[in-house]
Amino acid sequence: MKVICITTTKGGAAKTTNTVEIAGALSTYGKKVLCIDVDQTSGLSKYLGVRLTPEERENYGIKTSLEVLTGNGSIEESIIELDNMDIICGDARFEKASQFFQDEDEDKYLLKDLCDEIAKSGKYDYIFIDHGPQNDIVKKMALIAADEFYITSMISDVDRDEAKRSIDNIVKLQHTRDKLVSGQIKGVILSSTSGKALKEMALEDIEGKINQLEDGENLEYNVHIFDIPQSMAIKEAQTYQVPNTIKHKSSSVSRNYYEIADYIMEGEA
Ligand SMILES: Nc1ncnc2c1ncn2[C@@H]1O[C@H](COP(=O)(O)OP(=O)(O)OP(=O)(O)O)[C@@H](O)[C@H]1O
Ligand SMILES: [Mg+2]
Repeated sequence: MKVICITTTKGGAAKTTNTVEIAGALSTYGKKVLCIDVDQTSGLSKYLGVRLTPEERENYGIKTSLEVLTGNGSIEESIIELDNMDIICGDARFEKASQFFQDEDEDKYLLKDLCDEIAKSGKYDYIFIDHGPQNDIVKKMALIAADEFYITSMISDVDRDEAKRSIDNIVKLQHTRDKLVSGQIKGVILSSTSGKALKEMALEDIEGKINQLEDGENLEYNVHIFDIPQSMAIKEAQTYQVPNTIKHKSSSVSRNYYEIADYIMEGEA
């Protein structure tokens, strides 16, 4: 089982979109996928049509990721089985994460421990963690828990600068004395691209960053750069609450996502 985190420090960088669409592609391949939503806005849960109020959760006995992480619910109580994949839903109270996770030294490992526990069940091939834009302990937990990272970025230079900063941050955490982060950066996803010249420039820029790290011997493996075109089908998927990679498997943008899923599965060998 692998834990994957599609990440960057920038908000609105297609973290959730890419997570759901890649998870959809892997589930279509027959892989067992669990998505853990640790965002206060529960964007991933909503994308997949799960919009439960606290009262509804209480009535159905469903726990959120925050409740499981704080020991107020079990894994079994939190997993919601959808048609194609399972999810653990987000929680608005992540906004006040510092009230729930006070002992950073200990608490930063909570999500890793949760993933390790879920791995023991043997039920899943992949866990995806979708964090929000805040640079807080929850994001740190996600970075510590992941085996593999995909850095996501929109095409503008501001977005790319932020993505490059995120790459540097992960590399830094990989090299701390206690090797806080052990996951590898496997890819960069340039997202919602449009315009050939602009896309090529952006791809070149990201390639330059990866080459710089490789030259500095900060990466001992290849980092693949993907691009996902801007697509109306993605907006529709969010509206209809079904991943496009499940509803329209052979559409152009889905094929791009299936390429990423293929690449992820190659890593299984
Ligand atoms: N390929 C695409 N084509 C068109 N729109 C896209 C594409 N990818 C992402 N978007 C749009 O970009 C916006 C931001 O995407 P998303 O919510 O996935 O970002 P995020 O990084 O998860 O944001 P947050 O930091 O708020 O969690 C959304 O409105 C989404 O519909
Ligand atoms: Mg999101």
